Amino acid sequence: MTQMSIALPKGRLGERVCAALVRAGMADLDALQDSRRLIVSSETGGCRLFWVKPSDVGVYVERGAADIGVVGKDILLETRPQVYELMDLHTGVCRMAVAGKKDFSDDRSRPLRVATKYPRIASAYYAAQSREIDVIRLGGSIELAPLLDLSDVIVDIVETGATLRENGLAEITKIADISARLIANKASYEFQRERIDEICARLQERTEEIS
Ligand code: PRP
Repeated sequence: MTQMSIALPKGRLGERVCAALVRAGMADLDALQDSRRLIVSSETGGCRLFWVKPSDVGVYVERGAADIGVVGKDILLETRPQVYELMDLHTGVCRMAVAGKKDFSDDRSRPLRVATKYPRIASAYYAAQSREIDVIRLGGSIELAPLLDLSDVIVDIVETGATLRENGLAEITKIADISARLIANKASYEFQRERIDEICARLQERTEEIS
């Protein structure tokens, strides 16, 4: 039986899913304890786990380097990999939102300046409203942009809302609900559907542990 390759995002989310796979008998404990090794083969359950950068999971799965993977919906919406989205893991729950200064009002006589790590999500959202925007792509600390008048609004992840509040910003509109998803390579799913469905079923039983 060929090993099932699973791409897990480095960090807390990946570790929780890995722990659930161990408890579900799909991988052994080494997989969890050996998180410095990039590839962990497990005799138990016939799985091989890879630890990858969260934003790279979709690339591994789309190209078949991994059969399945765990990735945030934000990354799926932004990078749109050609994969099957099989399951909501109900963890990493947050939302993609537009936010700005509390007194923000849209001046429609000029393009809206939008700072974001998610240019594709922002562009699609405003294109649907026929609102012209000037996308300002940043790598992090997006909330700074409206404070320094680098942008009018931001499109970013909001989880508790604390970062917005602490910086005198407010949520304007929710764009999408975000959480971690289990994805599968399309060919792998055609040929190994039973095994992949089995992993889904075992994770489904453990969604409370993962979240
Ligand atoms: C994310 C996001 C917000 C913050 C939202 O940042 O970009 O800044 O979390 O969380 P909250 O609503 O609970 O305050 P992250 O920590 O990923 O760092 P970043 O600035 O590099 O994006």
